[in-house]
Amino acid sequence: PALKDSYIIPAAADMHVHLRNAPGPIASLVTPTIRKAGIDTVFVMPNLAPRPVVSVDEALAYKDALVQLDSGVNYLMSLYLHESITPEEIRKAKSAGVFGVKAYPRGATTNSQWGVVSFDPFHDVLKAMEEEGLVLNLHGEVPSSAADNVTVMNAEARFLPVLKGLVEKYPKLKIVLEHCTTADAVEAVRSLGDNVVGTITAHHLSLLVDDWSANVHHYCKPAAKTPEDRRALLNAVVTSNGKFFLGTDSAPHDISSKKGKGNTAAGVFTQPYALGYVLTALEEAIARNDIPASSVTDDVLSGFLSRYGRAFYGLPTTGLPQIRLTRGAARVEESLRGKGEDGVEVEVVPFRAGEVTWGVEW
Ligand code: NCD
Ligand code: DOR
Ligand code: ZN
Ligand code: ZN
Repeated sequence: PALKDSYIIPAAADMHVHLRNAPGPIASLVTPTIRKAGIDTVFVMPNLAPRPVVSVDEALAYKDALVQLDSGVNYLMSLYLHESITPEEIRKAKSAGVFGVKAYPRGATTNSQWGVVSFDPFHDVLKAMEEEGLVLNLHGEVPSSAADNVTVMNAEARFLPVLKGLVEKYPKLKIVLEHCTTADAVEAVRSLGDNVVGTITAHHLSLLVDDWSANVHHYCKPAAKTPEDRRALLNAVVTSNGKFFLGTDSAPHDISSKKGKGNTAAGVFTQPYALGYVLTALEEAIARNDIPASSVTDDVLSGFLSRYGRAFYGLPTTGLPQIRLTRGAARVEESLRGKGEDGVEVEVVPFRAGEVTWGVEW
């Protein structure tokens, strides 16, 4: 095999997760899988329904509920960029230990109906974020539009001028272009200063756009793209130097939202085996000659999976607990099942269900 049989790295940080409403059946099911995956720090997305997380008090209440589910995880909380948020709330967020504000272009993805149409009305809020060092997390897609020739395939590339405009207007603002999926996005992030970084998911390191036709659990936003785009993401991982780090965008949906009537919910659930999926994708990339075997060093893995994300968010990167990843030591379940207080069952199907993967020991 192209990689070693086992790696010891610092506990991982997953800087983009969806844990859903807490208390709630999906949160109860998925939150305990974070540490199981070798991850002790997560950046929690605020796109809850029926009400997104738009105030510091709501973010802190959400955090308390997550701590009830697993107190061994460091939850970095975020707000949903919304017109009700004031510059004062931004300052309150900073002093309360909220880490970022996520902007969803309206209509671009799950629960983006309360999102941003233009950044212009948010000028004072973005200024306050720039001053306070609060991170702006971007869902970097414009909504699909037949009139403007926008589909899931070019929605990210079309967003990049918006990113560049924000950087020009707020040069010191810390920005994460979340879940980069294209060579263009990788290039844009590389071309911008140290305050602009990108997260990369585990699933976009292996999926291509065609893969969703065979499996609804591969359907996500942003959509996976072309082989060239995937190669650019893999190269971004192994040459990151802090510019790119893990943000899985693990997005659990009950199977009824994936296979029921109506539109399939976007999201790939990767939380419990996130690190194994990354290692497998790197091995597959080496086999295809997308990246050289020598590029996957211990330092590259510990940087991408653990240190770079922490460094960007101002967290310590030394003195971390260690984990051991072992090839072939785990198997992905066919599905995870749980039950809510009301007795209603939920079922979430993980990525690469049924496959053998890497095991994690603390
Ligand atoms: C979420 C939930 O259950 O909390 N629903 C779902 O995953 N089907 C709500 C959400 O989409 O955030
Ligand atoms: O695939 C996705 N699922 N992309 C997103 O941006 C949102 C997420 C979700 O919340 O399910
Ligand atoms: Zn997003
Ligand atoms: Zn997301």
